[in-house]
Amino acid sequence: MVEGQRNRISVIGTGYLGATHAACMADLGFEVLGLDVDQTKIDSLSAGRIPFYEPGLEEVLGRNLANGRLRFTTDYDEVTEFADTHFLCVGTPQRADSNAADLSYVEAAVESLAPRLTRPAVVIGKSTVPVGTAARVAAQFHAIAPAGEAVELGWSPEFLREGFGVEDTLRPNRIVIGTDSERVETVMREISTAQIEQGIPFLVTDLQTAELVKVSANAFLATKISFINAMAEVSEAAGADVMQLAKALSYDDRIGGKFLGPGLGFGGGCLPKDIRAFMARADELGVEPALSFLREVDAINQRRRARTIDIARALIGGGFAGRTIAVLGAAFKPNSDDIRDSPALDVASTIASLGATVTVYDPEALEKAQQAHPELNYAHSMLEAVRDAEVVLMLTEWTEFRDADPEEVAKVVAKRNIVDGRNALDATEWRAHGWTYRALGRP
Ligand code: UDX
Repeated sequence: MVEGQRNRISVIGTGYLGATHAACMADLGFEVLGLDVDQTKIDSLSAGRIPFYEPGLEEVLGRNLANGRLRFTTDYDEVTEFADTHFLCVGTPQRADSNAADLSYVEAAVESLAPRLTRPAVVIGKSTVPVGTAARVAAQFHAIAPAGEAVELGWSPEFLREGFGVEDTLRPNRIVIGTDSERVETVMREISTAQIEQGIPFLVTDLQTAELVKVSANAFLATKISFINAMAEVSEAAGADVMQLAKALSYDDRIGGKFLGPGLGFGGGCLPKDIRAFMARADELGVEPALSFLREVDAINQRRRARTIDIARALIGGGFAGRTIAVLGAAFKPNSDDIRDSPALDVASTIASLGATVTVYDPEALEKAQQAHPELNYAHSMLEAVRDAEVVLMLTEWTEFRDADPEEVAKVVAKRNIVDGRNALDATEWRAHGWTYRALGRP
């Protein structure tokens, strides 16, 4: 490693993970060069614009572009000239033809980076990959890079939540580095000095364990959500209230209250595809039964979408054909404009396919929703969306919807029917204003 290069890092792939990582590393004082093969993404980031909604990130980006510590490029030669520490942050979406992870972006990044590594270098993968990928990538670097075995690999999974990306990157709840190289560990400790000084746990593992930490964390979170949603199903059948149940469970600190929110279930770019890729990998490893419970976790999650539609159907007393329906929320969760595997949009488009006119409003995700689902109608405000609706479905719990005044909304709808898909509204208040209020898992 060239001495002057120590403070320099490159970040390859500038999606949610990479753009956030690059900006935050620059904020911590590193000189950062971010690379993406998508010129429009690079143009946007270089101009200080984040191509997605992430609270606080644009400020971090702007100040580090201004102080010169952060730049972006599409040129791999520039990256390998600039730094000897490279973070791999490319996406690993679900494959179109199976449940497995699509590793083509990882492959492409390795094939572009490796032939240009003529000096000793440290490569740290952050992308979520099937266990076993990192060892294979390490072998590829050794085989292809001119510097050979002097290119050393580590894997450090990223646990950031969309909507809290900056906070989770600057103050993660733990840092995990999988590696068998002392140099990688040393470099990672140097890069993580600020966090280690704050007392954030720093764990060194082998490559495989580090890869597993990420997918097992997401599998656990998905299981926890589906657990409470399974209790919601039972509560509905038994006449119990899952919200009271969840509250009572949460006081047991072995269980805890986080990720115990019943409702329409999980979506997004991580949880659904990660549990599916994890099952596919377990199958390849010959331990398919070990993760067969995740199939049930996925199924419970999907059933919540169908159940939400059934509740709406019951409220309007019959089929959807020719009916006017309002959907509040398009993003997979609040404080994000991400619509990947969004439960809200899935429900909206299914109801539209059954013949209803569905109008959707979301504070941030309208543009993306419109591109993906041109069959839906879109409104530019909550009140515009609910006009003449026979039922309103609140499916993403933005503060704007939580705080909605039931009387104001009542003035423009055709019928006072509301489905609270996130158990986020005050049932008593809505009922007091004459609404028929229905929620998942509650009487
Ligand atoms: C998740 C993990 O939390 C994060 O650690 C990992 O790095 C990436 O995947 P994210 O996809 O941003 O992050 O969303 P998260 O906040 O975990 O929510 C996932 C989904 O679960 C959302 O659709 C949310 O609405 C839903 N959810 C969450 C529930 O239905 N109930 C809950 O109690 C919590």
